[in-house]
Amino acid sequence: MIENSHISFREMRKDDLDSVLVIDRLSFPLPWPESAYRHDLTNNSTAILWVAEVLSEDQDSKVVGMVDVWLIQEEAHIATLAVHPDYRGNGIAADLLSKVLFEAYKLGAQRAMLEVRESNLAARTLYEELGFVTVSRRRRYYRDNNEDALLMNLDNLQVLIDEDVELQKGSKDFLS
Ligand SMILES: CC(C)(COP(=O)(O)OP(=O)(O)OC[C@H]1O[C@@H](n2cnc3c(N)ncnc32)[C@H](O)[C@@H]1OP(=O)(O)O)[C@@H](O)C(=O)NCCC(=O)NCCS
Repeated sequence: MIENSHISFREMRKDDLDSVLVIDRLSFPLPWPESAYRHDLTNNSTAILWVAEVLSEDQDSKVVGMVDVWLIQEEAHIATLAVHPDYRGNGIAADLLSKVLFEAYKLGAQRAMLEVRESNLAARTLYEELGFVTVSRRRRYYRDNNEDALLMNLDNLQVLIDEDVELQKGSKDFLS
């Protein structure tokens, strides 16, 4: 278990790409090419890319999670999200996603949406816990195994933001 105090979240930089590609390849049957991340970092003004970083006791830092959200008008589309297998189950994805959705909200997003493999119970549970609901299905969406995608929406981003602010206020009170 990783102590939360050792994890921080920040915008992705070009020098994170090697770590991001490792996580991507360990996480997805259809990994993204480096050019896709590079494009979003440098040429896609709608893309919001963040990473989760673990700081070890000797102050070494390691990128262990990443997310890419496309802000299309008032909709935040979660394009990709993954945590390194060695660091899963520590709440990193939930925190990373909450933080990036807050950024999207500050930039004008009112709603969020994503596609997820039907068999991906870990991700579906994560999204449901954040308030996403399944609204439709895209049949045979994934070309590696023809699996269906479920389309999940979070219709009112404000609710998640309010809850997150309450949680952060609570932990501040606890620490002080
Ligand atoms: C899905 C993924 C991002 C979750 O990352 P994570 O950091 O381990 O998730 P968290 O620890 O923040 O989990 C938050 C909640 O999600 C749910 N969850 C996470 N992993 C789960 C699992 N293996 N089984 C069931 N529920 C799970 C739980 O409800 C969990 O809350 P809890 O810890 O209070 O029970 C990670 O498993 C991953 O990178 N998978 C491969 C890539 C992927 O599928 N990305 C999503 C594409 S749509």
